[in-house]
Amino acid sequence: MELQEKKILIVDDEEDIREILVDSLESLDYHTCTAADGDEAIDIIKEEHEGLAAIICDLKMPKVSGDQVVHFVAQEHPIIPIIILSGFAQLDMALDHIRMGAFDYMSKPFKFKELALTVKRALEFRSLKEKQARYQEELEIKVKEITAKLNNSVIQTVGSLIMAIEEKDKYTRGHSHRVAFYSSMVAQAMNLSNEEKKELEYAALLHDVGKIGISDQILNKPGKLTNIEYEIIKSHPSKGVKILEPLKFLDNILPIIEAHHERYDGKGYPHGLIQEQIPMLARIICVCDAYDAMTSERSYRKPLAKEIALEEITNGSGSQFDPKVVDAFITTYNNILSEIT
Ligand SMILES: [Fe+2]
Repeated sequence: MELQEKKILIVDDEEDIREILVDSLESLDYHTCTAADGDEAIDIIKEEHEGLAAIICDLKMPKVSGDQVVHFVAQEHPIIPIIILSGFAQLDMALDHIRMGAFDYMSKPFKFKELALTVKRALEFRSLKEKQARYQEELEIKVKEITAKLNNSVIQTVGSLIMAIEEKDKYTRGHSHRVAFYSSMVAQAMNLSNEEKKELEYAALLHDVGKIGISDQILNKPGKLTNIEYEIIKSHPSKGVKILEPLKFLDNILPIIEAHHERYDGKGYPHGLIQEQIPMLARIICVCDAYDAMTSERSYRKPLAKEIALEEITNGSGSQFDPKVVDAFITTYNNILSEIT
């Protein structure tokens, strides 16, 4: 319904004032309806608020007074402007009602011109508010659409990078997804925020992306690695950072990827970071990565039994691994992983 087709509700206990207002407003082509007190007004507003353009309301009425009508509309239908009608002696009260949410006031006796102008302004104000609300709604829909598109392209980019890693190293097929899955369980046990969980998921999926830059012969070598080959393998966290650097939306996870082979006791690589120097999310990936590496087949050995792998993780608490993460891993292992892995 267009605003011009809606009614103006006139609330006044004096019949002649209601009549003057109805005649004046209808001469200006407005539709009207009336209520003789606040109680009746609230009933009409409850039932017909969709069809009301504005309300003109007297302050002093028997039973339910004007301030309760203003309060009700401000709470339930703030889009409907209320014009207060007040005697000259009630000006202070009228101003209080404007603070409560009324649009404006007119003092009795009012002039026709004043009435016409105040109602016009009230309707213009309402139409502006409606436009603003629609604009806000459209904006929110746009932002949601853009975010969904952006998330989609993040997921696609991450997906193709994972495929590229797993193409290179046949023994690590599914590794990234499993590490991401274990990490999400640990994150849950550690009560991480949603934002941290998202970062952890991407970092866990992409932690070994640097292996793209390492030759297949070294990655898939069945025997023991030479010192030089091991040094080359150790470059994969930093290579991963180089590969992902141009993707600005992944900025936050670069330090995590770079640190996923750091050890809690400072004997890891590439920088020998110690304890809290290592990002928390990297300390989580480190434990999950080690567990999955031990329980999966490698070019040089068969998979370890999960109980033995868990024992290794427990033995590494405080040296290779952060004890808090080990505790969370054991909790999640006992609750979930022991059943499904
Ligand atoms: Fe790695």
